[in-house]
Amino acid sequence: MPLTLKPVTPDFVAEASGVDLRQPLAPTDIAAIDAAMDRYAVVFFRDQPMDQAQQVACARQFGPLDAGLRKATGAATRFQYDELIDISNLALDGSVADANNAKLVGTLANQLWHTDSSFQPLPIKYSMLSAVTLPENGGQTEWADMRAAYDALSDDMKALVEGRTAHHSTFHSRMMLGDDKYTPEQLNRFPPAEWPLVRTHPGSKRKLLFVGVHCDRVSGMTVPEGRLLVADLIEHATQRQFVYQHTWRPGDYVMWDNRATIHRGRRYDLSARRDLRRTTTLERDAAQALAA
Ligand code: OGA
Ligand code: MN
Repeated sequence: MPLTLKPVTPDFVAEASGVDLRQPLAPTDIAAIDAAMDRYAVVFFRDQPMDQAQQVACARQFGPLDAGLRKATGAATRFQYDELIDISNLALDGSVADANNAKLVGTLANQLWHTDSSFQPLPIKYSMLSAVTLPENGGQTEWADMRAAYDALSDDMKALVEGRTAHHSTFHSRMMLGDDKYTPEQLNRFPPAEWPLVRTHPGSKRKLLFVGVHCDRVSGMTVPEGRLLVADLIEHATQRQFVYQHTWRPGDYVMWDNRATIHRGRRYDLSARRDLRRTTTLERDAAQALAA
């Protein structure tokens, strides 16, 4: 059965079915999924429970994988693969982490609107999240369409953001949550990455706003002016008409394009088990260029 798509709105989010992601995908299916990602930016599949090996193998078909911050921090993992990123509230032994566990700050920072790894100077592309265990209430994930958000900016705002760049720092969101005791040496190990506020999506050629909680300053503006602009842009982009909320079921697999969307997790009872596992890809050609 070929890949079938059921769009949620004409240009944002589609439910895909007809393929088994745990088997190697035919090149035609990969091309169809890539095309769907260019158009819809978020594509989800139901009923695809995966083990760790299946998840890594599936993700690799869409580009080289990036292990995120762990490659620099070397933090311990409960997984067999460095490329699996832990989006759970679990401790290394698999039990629900204590509220004071340092690891939880990173997980909680996911509840602020962001795009994955924008604090790295790397050509980040898709993230793919596989759901294992969900709490009974809350814990949904939301995505906002940054292409539609750009299109809906006033002409004045378009003029204000055009040609500017923003600094994206991994520490900004953590500091907002009170995790602010970093040494200068730690801060220097993760210098901010600089990205244009307005980008053109290479697949769809649509212009988009590239902004999120990692942004801590905007070029040509004072720090407070830049932070206020970022707050306004996030508020604009996350109006309900641009947002899709996903209510998870075990076995769900959601792919999103980090260049075209921002996302956040929603509140849940931290004493309830929530186990999701992520992979993130780089743009293939750009990754090759970096390695060369
Ligand atoms: C992520 C993320 C949000 C959530 O996996 O990158 O931000 O709802 N997840 O867990
Ligand atoms: Mn994320």
